[in-house]
Amino acid sequence: MNLNIPSPLDKVFIPQLSRDIYIKRDDLIHEVISGNKWRKLKYFIEAFNSSNSNGIVSIGGAYSNHLHALSYACYLLNIPCKLYIYGAQISDDNMMLQDAIKWNSQVELISRSLKNELINQFWQNDGFFFIPEGGEGELAEKGVAEMLSEIESFEDSKESLIIIPYGTGTSCKAILKNTSNAHVLTLSPVMNNQILIHDRLKQVPTKFNLSFAGYNEEYYKEIILFKTQTSILLDPIYSAKLMQSFIFNFDNYKMYRDIYFIHTGGLQSWRNYNLRYKLDQIR
Ligand SMILES: Cc1ncc(COP(=O)(O)O)c(C=O)c1O
Repeated sequence: MNLNIPSPLDKVFIPQLSRDIYIKRDDLIHEVISGNKWRKLKYFIEAFNSSNSNGIVSIGGAYSNHLHALSYACYLLNIPCKLYIYGAQISDDNMMLQDAIKWNSQVELISRSLKNELINQFWQNDGFFFIPEGGEGELAEKGVAEMLSEIESFEDSKESLIIIPYGTGTSCKAILKNTSNAHVLTLSPVMNNQILIHDRLKQVPTKFNLSFAGYNEEYYKEIILFKTQTSILLDPIYSAKLMQSFIFNFDNYKMYRDIYFIHTGGLQSWRNYNLRYKLDQIR
């Protein structure tokens, strides 16, 4: 697998802030297995390799970035892969699902209500190595911590702010566990989601009250503007919401000397987002 690791760290001038921030370009790690996906999968795959399992099994939602990356990693590494997907139908125009099938994953569509029952079964092990939904867990945290150690200029001081989106919370947890002083800023794309409570973790007030994969014109225009200003495309579910909310509320964060925004990838989700809202392909 050809991985661009360590991923680049870009110093980017943000006109709305009149200052530079750093953007850790984990989106450039790999065309498909990008962002925090490789970070989170790496040690699970290593653990699978030293197990006697027949393959890897995981579970997730209809457009899951995690399942997409896992499916491709298994395809490249010749690992049998089973994916249990809830909230999808085979007739949907779902590029994630289509890719997974193309990459030889065995796809089972399940109802949301079966999810917990299945997860219990996976833990009991049916010969397949189980990776939890969203690639959550301590093995994932170990991989995310490596991202942090790649940033040579990073000082673990309270004048440093690390900005990273919140899904399962694994990436935030990894950063908090591997620092002692730096502050972490996040945003969950799920409205009113209860996030981890930690004295160095803050959630930025959201600029747009959008649902998980929601759209409005102003939001979309700002994504395009950011891309024009910086040449960096953010994903429409996680990092664009976080970046825009951060820029909008910058007065609360301007005291930080060093600001690191972690680009966690997720760009595959643009395909279905464009389709759903009839937008031009920006990727
Ligand atoms: C693109 C993207 N960014 C961020 C996250 C959140 O990461 P974590 O689950 O480690 O909180 C996810 C998924 O969970 C994701 O797909």
